[in-house]
Amino acid sequence: AKEYENIKTERDGRVAIVTLNRPKALNALNAALMKELNEALREFDADNEVGAIVLTGSEKAFAAGADIKEMKDNNFVQNFKNNFLGGWADITTIRKPIIAAVNGFALGGGCEVAMMCDIIYAGDKAKFGQPEIKLGTIPGAGGTQRLTQAVGKAKAMDLVLTGNMISAEEALQSGLVAKVFPADQLVAEAVKSAKTIASYSLPIVMMAKEAVNKSFELTLSEGLHLERRFFQASFGTKDQKEGMAAFSEKRAPNFTHE
Ligand code: CAA
Repeated sequence: AKEYENIKTERDGRVAIVTLNRPKALNALNAALMKELNEALREFDADNEVGAIVLTGSEKAFAAGADIKEMKDNNFVQNFKNNFLGGWADITTIRKPIIAAVNGFALGGGCEVAMMCDIIYAGDKAKFGQPEIKLGTIPGAGGTQRLTQAVGKAKAMDLVLTGNMISAEEALQSGLVAKVFPADQLVAEAVKSAKTIASYSLPIVMMAKEAVNKSFELTLSEGLHLERRFFQASFGTKDQKEGMAAFSEKRAPNFTHE
């Protein structure tokens, strides 16, 4: 695997695992880390042997937000000219599924990066929050938008305006996370789900991800139209033929991702 300074990458079969690794700063997301993260994700997205990606941090922190020490002296013109935080959204251009496995703190940009992923699984001690208000700023990478879409206005306003954190259990109840696991089993469980996803036809998995994500952008009739076209198109793959033949013949399918 390629060597990075702020992240670690590994492979487990068709699953790629990316671990945020700035332990001394609770995985605070500085420019160098985000550059490496996007580079690794792009590489795995282009790798035919990878079917799904797990993004995780440490047991103490998924990520405690954007790096406050790095950005504190930024001025408006710099932020504007460099489109500060704009590049973070590159994560959302990855076309393979990404499962965020969140242990410990997912605060500010940490929560926002988790929300850019497709599924969030949490360890039972995880804490989610958008504490930017306490620093004299507001969320800048989706905390007012993706969080509101995920949990609704009442919870999102409460989190964004008070800066308070919520527990994994509360995040589960409000629909921010899909499942909660004991902290020490979280990554293994995320890899297990990622392996399940990666065992299916990759082009079909990519269509499914794209169709769900489009629901946030399109009207219902446009979204249903897109879904129906993807569904119809899926019959142009070898994997659809294989999947339905295998069902009829009462055997396991052998998907070739074609
Ligand atoms: N940026 C830079 N450094 C950070 C950091 C951050 N976001 N979060 C933690 N660190 C550093 C601390 O400064 C500390 O470094 P030193 O040992 O050199 O002092 C180290 O990580 C350990 O942190 P603490 O000693 O504070 O650990 P703790 O267990 O006492 O507290 C915490 C944990 C509650 C998460 C606390 O660190 C904290 O509040 N962090 C900041 C959280 C935050 O405000 N995040 C939002 C950032 S803004 C943002 O993300 C904007 C956006 O929308 C993208």
